[in-house]
Amino acid sequence: MSKKSFPRIIQGGMGVGISSWKLARTVSMEGELGVISGTAVALTLARRIMEKVDEDDVNRALDAFPFPKMIERIRTKYAPSPDEKLNKDRFKAVSMPTIEYSKDLLELTVVACFVEVYMAKYGHDGVVGMNLLEKIQTPTLPSIYGALLANVDYILMGAGIPIRIPKVIDELSNHQNSSLPIKVLEDDGNETVYSKFSPVEFAEGEALPQLKRPRFLAIVSSAPLALHLSRSQYGSPDGFIVEMPIAGGHNAPPRGKLQLSELGEPIYGVRDEVDFKAIQDIGLPFYLAGGYGSHEQYIMATNLGASGIQVGTAFAFCEESGMEKSLKRRIIEAVKKGLGRVRTDPLASPTGFPFKVVEIEDTNGIHETAEKRQRICDLGYLREAYRKENGNIGYRCPSEPVDDYVKKGGKLEDTVGRRCLCNGLVSTMGLGQKRRNGTEEIPLVTAGDDLKYVLRFLKPGQLSYTAKDVLEILLGKNLNKAS
Ligand SMILES: Cc1cc2nc3c(=O)[nH]c(=O)nc-3n(C[C@H](O)[C@H](O)[C@H](O)COP(=O)(O)O)c2cc1C
Repeated sequence: MSKKSFPRIIQGGMGVGISSWKLARTVSMEGELGVISGTAVALTLARRIMEKVDEDDVNRALDAFPFPKMIERIRTKYAPSPDEKLNKDRFKAVSMPTIEYSKDLLELTVVACFVEVYMAKYGHDGVVGMNLLEKIQTPTLPSIYGALLANVDYILMGAGIPIRIPKVIDELSNHQNSSLPIKVLEDDGNETVYSKFSPVEFAEGEALPQLKRPRFLAIVSSAPLALHLSRSQYGSPDGFIVEMPIAGGHNAPPRGKLQLSELGEPIYGVRDEVDFKAIQDIGLPFYLAGGYGSHEQYIMATNLGASGIQVGTAFAFCEESGMEKSLKRRIIEAVKKGLGRVRTDPLASPTGFPFKVVEIEDTNGIHETAEKRQRICDLGYLREAYRKENGNIGYRCPSEPVDDYVKKGGKLEDTVGRRCLCNGLVSTMGLGQKRRNGTEEIPLVTAGDDLKYVLRFLKPGQLSYTAKDVLEILLGKNLNKAS
């Protein structure tokens, strides 16, 4: 595929670690857009180094990073020494994100995004993107810079209004200082607190490599938002992904007052329907996402003027995805038996956005199991900054221990039904923390309402399928034959 053209299929960015570099690389090598998830990769890189997961690949990428002193520091801190028993009890802590990053975390964040993109792009010339969530604000600048250092082709961002990202990409791809306002609860909304990143300071005097400006695709759920972003003073996105509420992961809340079905799920109505004509009129390439996991859906999307589709769920359960293998298989087996319902949970995510969870035994997708988890907040990606009475800034998450949250000025009612997405999602990729009391964090799996259709990718008698199988079905052709 020419780099000038846009892809037909975007393999959606799925955090944490589901859109691994292995998945993105496979998709990219087939000529479509493979996307890595940039969410929480600082943490997962540290844990991979500690457990020597994919050691050779990780080392190859670390060795290619342009500022080697930082790699030395990361290795010294996280790599087990030769006589240290691997993962003897629990993972060492990694600093939690705050508005001003510690030097450690800043380096780890830049390097981790570099590693994911570098490996996804390794050994071929296909295009690769990185997905970030607008709601997780503090890692954004170092994450984008890390991806730029690895020559990323696309940045994709949703779960919020990513209005300033075009300007951030312009600045960072020229090694200029960049900043982003950070929302501070209890402040009056004036943008006074910024996350800042200076490439020159970061590089500590080392030579700065030439960077290219990647394209930016904003993930939106409505035409008015797409139009608003396209007219932004900070620059327009290069295109849009229009995501419907049946997509996996977080969903945009329904417009108007939240109404719940008998099963307690948000009800979407006519006001949530997307005006495709209005999107098309903006004149930028766009993709449809959420339930577009078949060739018929692909054709339907292109008939609506879309350049293609973004697909998540179908790729989340393929062999190359970063989901822990046995869990993936267990879910496919469950789906075969008609189990593994996907619930749109209005409360689970600390962000307050509806979040889809798979109801599968021994995971926090089962309400009773999740309620039994002892609350602990030690990863902190979804913590929000708030203004303390003394004027300082603190951090709180509605899924942290209830007393702590309330002591920090949070409302008791906001803690009800909240799940620790950080620990749950990291456990889903097989890197769950072991607790001092001998328990281990258990997974929390997200998928789109289309989960039941993953069966269409299975060949007879098989319980697994590849990313290429998905692409062949989506594109309606055998990828081994010339088209
Ligand atoms: C396991 C999983 C994790 C996801 N995580 C993210 C994420 O971190 N950021 C994001 O923008 N979208 C995320 N999504 C949404 C996908 O990128 C994609 O837009 C969506 O899955 C498309 O709908 P589908 O699931 O019906 O194919 C996730 C989806 C899944 C299934």
